[in-house]
Amino acid sequence: MDYNEMLKTARDLLAPKCRVCPVCDGRACRGEVPGAGGKGSGDSFVRNVAYLRDVQIVLDTLYAEHGQDTSCEFFGRKFALPAFPAPIGGMKMNYGSDISEEAQAERVLAGSAAAGSAAFTGDSPVREAFYGPLEAMKRLGVPGVPTIKPWSLDLALPRVQAAKEYGATAIAMDVDAAGLVNVKLNGGTVYPKSVADMKELVAACAPLPFIVKGVMSAKGALKAAEAGVYGIVVSNHGGRVLDSSPATAEVLPEIRAALGENSPVKIFMDGGIRTGLDVFKAIALGADAVLIGRPIITASFGGGAEGVEMYLKKVAAELVATMLMTGASNLKEITRDMVRLPK
Ligand SMILES: Cc1cc2nc3c(=O)[nH]c(=O)nc-3n(C[C@H](O)[C@H](O)[C@H](O)COP(=O)(O)O)c2cc1C
Repeated sequence: MDYNEMLKTARDLLAPKCRVCPVCDGRACRGEVPGAGGKGSGDSFVRNVAYLRDVQIVLDTLYAEHGQDTSCEFFGRKFALPAFPAPIGGMKMNYGSDISEEAQAERVLAGSAAAGSAAFTGDSPVREAFYGPLEAMKRLGVPGVPTIKPWSLDLALPRVQAAKEYGATAIAMDVDAAGLVNVKLNGGTVYPKSVADMKELVAACAPLPFIVKGVMSAKGALKAAEAGVYGIVVSNHGGRVLDSSPATAEVLPEIRAALGENSPVKIFMDGGIRTGLDVFKAIALGADAVLIGRPIITASFGGGAEGVEMYLKKVAAELVATMLMTGASNLKEITRDMVRLPK
């Protein structure tokens, strides 16, 4: 299977919900939520991709060659690359597919592990959307990060317990899902979370790391840090929860500045990451690692676990190629001066 074959298979399987565009940039699917698009005008999704595309990389090949190492450590484990599949649930609702949430998660978890990464998995008011991926993770014995919707704590805490019992690597909560229409359509109720709520979640997840997904401001990042979280995901849910949001790459430098260069809080970022060049840009702008959403769906429908593995390895190879052209021999050496912001 080559990459273009994989895209063609995915296009046949995902039409008409997802067109598998040559670049997944949110234009063809504006407003399609449920679906694969961005909310309202779709601008938040479109801007995530467009802003990142316009960040430029500064070439410098005047250095003594020393190789390129993309390995990293998170959650007390080593990974081959700083890119993790983002949680994506609702195969029927969003993609019109009859695949079960468990079977979908299984191929993403397996492909990710084979590439030296680990997948985040999703949640919804439909029980199987949370427990199906947990079953797959346990059966495969691979790392994974279940991501719980921001239910009231009496509903969220039993899911934390289940994630621990099933052997999760870390646990996340997509706090921005408080604005998600899909959850409401499925009969669920989700709420914003206070610092006190986050502290309770940190304590309930211990000894596993707890990650807050859906932070878009320095103020929000500081509140998450105050609660003692392991990490945050700078994310606007792929533009699915609020129209007219800035791009995630646009707010990332402010968030890094607020938390500090050597912050113990890990900064993940998602929204518009498509290639290894994008991973490089996100790290230069302040991320420790990234999550990738929609392209993982394409890869999994186009090629199953093998498609996910192939896509992540392609991203890693592109990251290596970019590091070669900029003089970074490891992820720590990817610095802010290696990129220029769009005017
Ligand atoms: C169809 C679809 C379903 C999603 N489901 C979830 C989910 O269950 N939990 C979650 O935290 N995020 C969910 N997300 C958001 C992604 O995790 C991620 O933040 C976003 O897709 C990143 O942007 P990208 O797709 O441009 O890479 C979903 C996104 C899409 C497109």
